[in-house]
This record gives sequence, C-alpha cells and structure tokens, in this order.
Amino acid sequence: MGNNDREATRRYHEITKHSYTNVRSNPHALDWDNRPLTYKIYPAAGAIALPRELDLSAMPATAAIGAAPARLDATDEPLNLETLTRILFCTAGLTRSKTVGGEDYHFRAAASAGALYPIEVYLAASEVEGAEPGLYHFSPADLKLRGLRRGDWREYLALAAAKRPAVIEARAVVMLSAIFWRSTWKYRARAYRYCFWDAGTMLANLTAAANAERLAVEIVTAFEDAPVERLIDADAEREGVVCLVAIGRRAPASVTISDAQSAASPAPLKLDTVPLSTHEKSYEDLAKIHRASRLETIEEVRAVAAASLEARPAPAAIESITPAVLPEADALGLGETVLRRGSARAFAREPIAAEELATIMATSRAPLQTDFPPTVEPYLIINAVDGIASGAYYYRRETGSFEVIKCGEFRGEAGYLCLEQTLGADCSALICYMTDLDRVLDALGNRGYRDAHLEAGILGGRAYLAAYSLGRGATGLTFYDDDTTKFFAPHAEGKSPLLMVAVGVQRSRAALIEDDAE
Ligand SMILES: Cc1cc2nc3c(=O)[nH]c(=O)nc-3n(C[C@H](O)[C@H](O)[C@H](O)COP(=O)(O)O)c2cc1C
Repeated sequence: MGNNDREATRRYHEITKHSYTNVRSNPHALDWDNRPLTYKIYPAAGAIALPRELDLSAMPATAAIGAAPARLDATDEPLNLETLTRILFCTAGLTRSKTVGGEDYHFRAAASAGALYPIEVYLAASEVEGAEPGLYHFSPADLKLRGLRRGDWREYLALAAAKRPAVIEARAVVMLSAIFWRSTWKYRARAYRYCFWDAGTMLANLTAAANAERLAVEIVTAFEDAPVERLIDADAEREGVVCLVAIGRRAPASVTISDAQSAASPAPLKLDTVPLSTHEKSYEDLAKIHRASRLETIEEVRAVAAASLEARPAPAAIESITPAVLPEADALGLGETVLRRGSARAFAREPIAAEELATIMATSRAPLQTDFPPTVEPYLIINAVDGIASGAYYYRRETGSFEVIKCGEFRGEAGYLCLEQTLGADCSALICYMTDLDRVLDALGNRGYRDAHLEAGILGGRAYLAAYSLGRGATGLTFYDDDTTKFFAPHAEGKSPLLMVAVGVQRSRAALIEDDAE
C-alpha cells in the first residue's frame, strides 16, 4: 500500500463505475429506519453562539468567485467573529428545511449529493477576535462553535503540511472531514467520490466568501493524515480529513517554526458524540482507497506538494467560439445567491444566452489558490444556448473558448448519460468535468484521486453559484462512467468523468403542478 500503489486507485475507480447494466443488476434499497443523522453533535462540549444577524456580502457572486486571492489580508487586523461566521455560514450554513414523505430535510448553503451532508467543519482559530485560540467544531444546526481544545494549533498543522507557508501564516485554519457512513448509506463504496464532490461545493462557497471579505485563502490537501486526524480526534476508518483551508494571512516576518514543535501531540478528546444511526455498515473498498491515498510521511507530503502535471494539450480545435462574459453587475450578490441557491428539480426546455453560459463556465478559469495543480477539463453537451450551435464541446480553461467536438441534437444522449435523468435532457447545457486519471495518478499518486474529485466539486459548486446569481438553475448529477467517455471520444479518450452539472431555465413549481394535474 502507499500513495504510489496506483493499482489500488485504478481498481477502486473501475469497480465503482456506474453502467447501464450494473445499476440494474445491483440495486440498493435505502434503509430509512437507519438513515444517518446529518449533524455531528457533541452534547457535552461548551459552545460559543455565533452572531445571527449576518450581513452577507453584496459583492456580485461572479466577482467574488473570480477575485484574485489576496496575498495578505486587506487590513492587518485579526479576523473577527462576524467575518468568520459569514464565511462558515456560506460554507455549511443551514439555509432552509422541509419535510418530504415524513422525512425532515435540512438544506445547506452548498449542494450535497442526496442531501446527506457527509462533510464536517472544524476550525483551528489562532487570531480570531471573540474566540480564544483553540480547536472548534462548527455546528450548523444551532449556529454555534463547540470548543474541543484550547491552544494555537496552527504550527502543529503547518508541520503536518510540510511547513506550508499559508498554514503557518493563517489567522484560522478550517478543516473539512468526511463522515463516510452518511454517504455510503445511499451510495455504498462509490460514496468516496461523492464526499470529495460535496467538500468541493462547500469550498466553492468558502473561497468566494473569503474573497468577498478580501482575505487570503488557500486550500491544502498535501498533509500527513494521522496528525490531523489526531487533532480532530477522528476515527480514521469512519471519518477522513479532506483538506485544510488557510484563512487570512499575517505578514510572515516574525514567523519561524521548529521541528521540535511536532512533539506537542494532542491527547484523545474523550468527548461523546450522538450516534448517527442505530448501526453503521463499513465498505471495505472505500476503506481501501482511503488508506491507499493517505500520506504517511513528511517526505510523501513534500513530494506531492511539489508535483506538477505535465502539460498535455487537448487536440486542436476545428472550430471554436468565445462568447463575451456578462458584466459582474448583472450577477446577484454572493449572500443573496447563497440563500437562493438550490438544485433545479426540473428544467424548461428553453435556451439561455451564450453570454450566460460563458459567464458560468468562466468560473472554472477564476484563480483558485491550492497546493495541487489543476486536473480537471470541462466538456459540455449544449442542448439550447442562443448563440452556440447545439452539440458536444470542449471548454478550454486557458482561453475560455468552446471548441466544437461534434454538432447536433444530443438531448437524448445527455439524459441517458446522467443516469437517465430527465434533468440532463431538459437543461440548456450539461457540463461534464473530466480528468486524465493516469496522468493525475502518475504525478500525484493516489492523493491525486482525492484532488481531482475535490477540484471537480469546486468547479461544479462555482457553476452552481454563477447560475443562480444570473437567475438560472443548476444541479449536480451523477453519470454512466464509460459511456460518457465514449460519447466525447476520440477527443476525451483516456479521460474519466468526475462530476456533471446541468444548467438551464428552471421550470416553475406552478408549471410542475399543472403537469402533474394533467
Ligand atoms: C455531487 C452532487 C451530485 C448530485 N447528483 C444528483 C443527481 O444525480 N440527481 C439529482 O436530482 N440531484 C443531484 N444532486 C443535487 C442534490 O440532490 C441536492 O444538492 C441536495 O438534495 C440538496 O439540495 P439543494 O442543492 O437544493 O440545497 C447532486 C448534488 C451534488 C452536489
């Protein structure tokens, strides 16, 4: 085993593919009586109530997504609790709830496959006015921070991340973790992919919210897993750390850390949490890929952090179009967008404008501060976009151009590829985030599998925000793996789909009710 045993990832990817045949031959009935709780609850931990009157950012959402990351904070003040709460709320806040078929659903700021919300948010606060330095757990249900440990854990985390400067200099470090059972309950072993997508949609919101506050923000995925698990007291078989996010940046002048500090290892927390369900089932294939993509030594962390992806340009375009993007002022403010965002449940078969699609896609070009290289290439099926002929396209991130793969009417194929969901057939455009997995694994080892899924989630989350900020709808979608590659072949030969997002004109509730009545 180990990060370089790439066969482990290849095997996992292969056996968790969806195909027309295996979704029929291997159905899975949901055990509703054992549905996992979507919150991690620490009944005995002390809490800090966060401010509820949140003046969420009015910066146009597309501007917030696209803002170049700050190198240092705009002001040299510590973070304050209100700013931090706005960021945490946009990442994981509870935005609405409803009861469907006797089941209560609490919806959050970012989309989550199946509304299962497997991702937890922890915070190592170092320089946050109103919160003592310490480790906290963010509780979206009651908008509180639960105190887990005292102390400034920034240097401990920086050592786990091979002294990544952004972590050493951060004012606070957010950690996202995945509680696998929440997602395996529905998606079984394939859930490992879903956890990283879901973390990605949250990171799209988090980075936009931090940009809107003019704070430096960096996503770090190269770290030794064990010390971070120890800090948050995660049982590695059940809860995996997804990433660290360094928020805010003080001037580096006075910061030095020595390796000796790594000795300060945190003791077990011994804090009870409420069980998620009456029993939990573990999935060995998921456990294996999680183990295989761990970084166990600082040398492994350094190697992954220094890795780059060799450029392998996609085939030259036969024909391409580069529509203008819309002025930022046309987009709703970030706060309003986050509150209005949902997942479209039905699309009207109506076109959006080429400029709208160009604006939504431009979010995949916007700067993103990460310690891993870009791995994702977007492909599209365009069903109805005024100004772009219907067909299959490659979106070149470097230039923002839509390059024709084949022209034609592919609504039927789009609906089929996303697991035969009509959302794919009815949307205006179906974005398919793909990656050259061999190339990613060669460069980054198994850790690259996590990175690619995370990046696809971030790009998908950004597309969601941009679509809703323009008054359009979006939804994440899952897919038939090999059929998708075949559809975009030969252009996409050797590439694997990671996630799909459909965008378009939402069908109103009134129209849906009218349809049902007919
Ligand atoms: C990665 C991902 C995959 C998704 N896949 C599907 C899907 O296949 N079909 C679907 O109808 N919705 C899908 N969704 C939408 C979720 O069901 C939706 O986000 C969740 O119910 C929460 O609702 P909200 O987005 O309206 O807040 C997906 C969302 C994400 C983030």
